[in-house]
Amino acid sequence: MLKSIILELTWVISASARSQLGRHAGIIDARQLSEATNYDFIVAGGGIAGLTVADRLTENPNITVLVIEYGPFDQREDGIMIPGAYFPVPYFWLPLMSTPQAALGGTSYLVPCGRVVGGGSVVNAMFFHRSDAALYDAWEELGATGWSWKNLLPYFKKSATFTPPDAEYAKERNITWDASVRGIDGPVQASYAPYDYPGSANFYNGATSIGIHPAEDPDNGNAKGIFRLQRSVDAKTQTRSSARVNRYDRNAARPNYHILSNTAVSRVVFEGTTAVGVEYLGTSNGTKQTVSARKEVILAAGSVHTPQILQLSGIGEAGALKTFGIESVSDLPGVGRNLQDHLVLKVNYNYTSNVFPNGGSLQSNTLYAAEQRALYDAGEPSAYDLTGTTGNLIIQLPLSNWTSNSSSIVAQAKHFDSAVILGNNPDSSVLHGYGKQRSIILDDIDISAVGGLSWNTGPETSLYMTRPFSRGSIRINSTSILDAPLIDYGTIMDPTDLEMLYAIYMKNRELMTAPDLAVLGPIETAPAPGLSDENEIKEKIKKVLMPSNAHQCCTAAMMQKEDGGVVDPENRVYGVERLSIVDASTWPIIVGGGPQASVYAGAEKAADVIKARHGIL
Ligand SMILES: Cc1cc2nc3c(=O)[nH]c(=O)nc-3n(C[C@H](O)[C@H](O)[C@H](O)COP(=O)(O)OP(=O)(O)OC[C@H]3O[C@@H](n4cnc5c(N)ncnc54)[C@H](O)[C@@H]3O)c2cc1C
Ligand SMILES: *[C@@H]1O[C@H](CO)[C@@H](O)[C@H](O)[C@H]1NC(C)=O
Ligand SMILES: *[C@@H]1O[C@H](CO)[C@@H](O)[C@H](O)[C@H]1NC(C)=O
Ligand SMILES: *[C@@H]1O[C@H](CO)[C@@H](O)[C@H](O)[C@H]1NC(C)=O
Ligand SMILES: *[C@@H]1O[C@H](CO)[C@@H](O)[C@H](O)[C@H]1NC(C)=O
Ligand SMILES: *[C@@H]1O[C@H](CO)[C@@H](O)[C@H](O)[C@H]1NC(C)=O
Ligand SMILES: *[C@@H]1O[C@H](CO)[C@@H](O)[C@H](O)[C@H]1NC(C)=O
Ligand SMILES: *[C@@H]1O[C@H](CO)[C@@H](O)[C@H](O)[C@H]1NC(C)=O
Repeated sequence: MLKSIILELTWVISASARSQLGRHAGIIDARQLSEATNYDFIVAGGGIAGLTVADRLTENPNITVLVIEYGPFDQREDGIMIPGAYFPVPYFWLPLMSTPQAALGGTSYLVPCGRVVGGGSVVNAMFFHRSDAALYDAWEELGATGWSWKNLLPYFKKSATFTPPDAEYAKERNITWDASVRGIDGPVQASYAPYDYPGSANFYNGATSIGIHPAEDPDNGNAKGIFRLQRSVDAKTQTRSSARVNRYDRNAARPNYHILSNTAVSRVVFEGTTAVGVEYLGTSNGTKQTVSARKEVILAAGSVHTPQILQLSGIGEAGALKTFGIESVSDLPGVGRNLQDHLVLKVNYNYTSNVFPNGGSLQSNTLYAAEQRALYDAGEPSAYDLTGTTGNLIIQLPLSNWTSNSSSIVAQAKHFDSAVILGNNPDSSVLHGYGKQRSIILDDIDISAVGGLSWNTGPETSLYMTRPFSRGSIRINSTSILDAPLIDYGTIMDPTDLEMLYAIYMKNRELMTAPDLAVLGPIETAPAPGLSDENEIKEKIKKVLMPSNAHQCCTAAMMQKEDGGVVDPENRVYGVERLSIVDASTWPIIVGGGPQASVYAGAEKAADVIKARHGIL
């Protein structure tokens, strides 16, 4: 059981050249609440969404905002700031484990989340890109009126500044983009790494030789084909542009913006059904205090912990809360349901004649690593500009581009029983909303991307299944916020998810036989070397797949209440007043690829919606 936590941590540790010195060390602004006062808004959770909303609300100096964040401020360690030195483990939420996964032999898995001011943006791999337009349009179809791709595009642009690569480098590396869809003056700094490995050309040419087309710009609503990975990295300094940096540090002079770190929000305080503040406690002492919000309480604790706070506050399935002695404030069976994430499958190859340097060289060759680090420190293009152990390219495709077997996979999927897949005796509203989601996925499966494939030009190939039919859940296990909730991913409870992952795996095998890649002499070493029997391969895949790519979402969904929804299209929680949710838990259905660009954009939109209803300029 613990095998997988060690496996996953080893992955992250091997993903990083460790170093201790905080090259970018700066003074941490520890403006803190000294005594309980009144704020206009209290934001629970200082991750991507929480800090983005707090940043926008405090642009008006008359509006006071308190953000309460469970984790500390990072210390600008190299492992956080320098992409190639990637080592975020100190700011992971540890130990946070899933429940035993029924379809995976009862194994429990690490639940990767950030616990730090800036949340996931401080610990993530910095990939920064949007999904297919149709995936956002599905949100609107599921009840999130006003959240289509067209509605979100202005917010994607508002959230970021894209610094284009050097023109000659871009031409030589086949990097293309559509300037009209990119942000030009937003807070998140986005760029392409100015360094590349020669093997990228093998990957690019191998992919195109088997009919995988380049995407002109994955940020234009068509994120399919092979494309270059944009990163949330400041092009000038080649350092991480986290929400802590781009949504807080830049506002160090705003006296109306406070952050209380190392503090847990334990519940929302209600007067009747009106949210009037929050109860909180230091994570190292148990003294509970309260602070009040004049205008609104805003939840942004992430998709694992926002439903926990809701349930502890009496918002969730009333019957289940009663067993903990929690009085119901709003009976919403959808709270904590609908958990989604992406599956990850690592495929390993030995290359008998790979080219040097490659995506494994920083780890395997100390001379090269030292030389690259010196270049980085001198501000020259360097392998340290790429997140540790990652490459520059990814492929994302719809199901029929991964396999010729798509129609039989779809036909089989139509016969599965939704109630069995969801488990835990789902409320009829939750079942109803899930039914709508299934038909959208089935309609779209050969049109929108369902998975990805990335080779780092060295030992790492990562496969992603990004359009899951399975659904998990988050349920409190005690009445204390300091105890972990029960996190059930529900991994491959619908076996269609395994079929899709298998299809991507087989496509990768085909890709490795393309002449441009075959020339490097790839020999599969895991997970199924030498095997060709479909069922045997699937069993091997099940043993090593990971239920999470740290892309948890959708546990307080923006859908109709009759569909198991929790918030309305203006982010307001059903059945109560002055309580809203702004993080990835509000998504009705998961998007493809990295979620962070979509979290930033959604929070930008939520900030506008909140300002509008309070008449804030
Ligand atoms: C290791 C890792 C790698 C990733 N890589 C990528 C990537 O390369 N590209 C990409 O697009 N996405 C990536 N992601 C995902 C991305 O970072 C998340 O989707 C995103 O951060 C979610 O934003 P959020 O605002 O919903 O929640 P978060 O950013 O997780 O913020 C939630 C915050 O709430 C705090 N909190 C929780 N409970 C409480 C409480 N009771 N009281 C107070 N505070 C609380 C948490 O500590 C956290 O800081 C990665 C995530 C991880 C963990
Ligand atoms: C802030 O309040 C002052 C005093 O009421 C007012 O003059 C000013 O216009 C307000 N500023 C904004 C941006 O709302
Ligand atoms: C770019 O594309 C051309 C063909 O269009 C190919 O010859 C070249 O190798 C590619 N380079 C990279 C780095 O992908
Ligand atoms: C997917 O396959 C279709 C049909 O062969 C093709 O037209 C399309 O270009 C492919 N998509 C990508 C992104 O390669
Ligand atoms: C406990 O933590 C709270 C919140 O951080 C703080 O205000 C309070 O002073 C702490 N109490 C003690 C006894 O340390
Ligand atoms: C892969 O390479 C390693 C190290 O060179 C070697 O020990 C191992 O036997 C190789 N495996 C295969 C399947 O070639
Ligand atoms: C095609 O899909 C069906 C249904 O999921 C499955 O039973 C079959 O084994 C698959 N065949 C191949 C070659 O992938
Ligand atoms: C849930 O609570 C029970 C009883 O207190 C405890 O034994 C168990 O370890 C808890 N589960 C998790 C995942 O924390």
